[in-house]
Amino acid sequence: KSEKKTFQIGFAQCTMNDNWRKTMVEGMESELTFHNNIGMTIANANSNSTKQIAQIQQFIEDKVDLIIVTPNEAKPLTAIIEKAFDAGIPVVIVDRKTTSEKYTAFVGADNQLIGQNAGIYANIILKGQGTIFEVGEGAKTSPTIDRHQGFLKVINKNPQLKLLKSLFSARQPQYLQEEIRSFLSQHPKVDLIYAHNDRLAHAIANVCKSLGLNKKIIGVDGLYGANQGIDLVSKGIISATILYPTGGEEAIKTAVKILNKQPFEKENQLFTTIINAENVGIMLAQYQKIKEQQDDIKRQASKIKELTRIFSTQQNTLYLTIIF
Ligand code: FRU
Repeated sequence: KSEKKTFQIGFAQCTMNDNWRKTMVEGMESELTFHNNIGMTIANANSNSTKQIAQIQQFIEDKVDLIIVTPNEAKPLTAIIEKAFDAGIPVVIVDRKTTSEKYTAFVGADNQLIGQNAGIYANIILKGQGTIFEVGEGAKTSPTIDRHQGFLKVINKNPQLKLLKSLFSARQPQYLQEEIRSFLSQHPKVDLIYAHNDRLAHAIANVCKSLGLNKKIIGVDGLYGANQGIDLVSKGIISATILYPTGGEEAIKTAVKILNKQPFEKENQLFTTIINAENVGIMLAQYQKIKEQQDDIKRQASKIKELTRIFSTQQNTLYLTIIF
């Protein structure tokens, strides 16, 4: 445990290699600047469930005060998360789920709802008729399972909507890209592609472009920034994205309440919505505003740090003046 900190959080992050995860960690770190007494150690599992199990085991042995975890895959991670919970360590699950109720709190959007929203929007842009290709990462992760089921629930109500293929992979998107290319070459007439995240959606748009195809693409995540979901929608590269907030700030807020023995909610469902050409302008403007405010907060924080430093040197000088 760190010397100065009252509480130590162990954060078991399933992967760190994309902007969505980086945004999550940024949100956590910015929230933690309000809590100097809390330290956080991050363990990156690189999308490997065995590795993540060992990392959580280490957190248990280290007797951290709280574990935040984005379970890489639902089933394989369930037992170790139950073990931490049974050992009396509060566990905040973020984004992905396990198959158990044994956790202290959950923070994340409802991925079934995300899938349903994608289905509703697919039905709208296809005007109730057409063929669909679905692509997702990590077949055993809870978002993939839920986003698929939610989508099916909606499109199965309309027999005119045909899901030609669902392609899932535990491998990195660049491998998936070959399978995407081969499917699209064989089915150039497919009307719409439902991608489980905007990284995939963007990769699919590039494959379509290289094949000379112009397809409707729906993504998920809706991050702000160059070449992220909102940007892709505003440039017309994809038709829509379903907002999937990272929950970084909310995860820390919940953890802080738990550590301070304050009341908290077990289920913290984050907001989701469909972002398309009609509302993307509003989203862009709002994110721009948030970005400016975040920059102001950062500036204020560094000003406070500087003032604290000046104050403590002045105190030292004063002290030395009194002594000599
Ligand atoms: C980032 C990510 C997101 C996706 C989420 C699902 O690592 O793949 O794109 O929405 O994880 O857990």
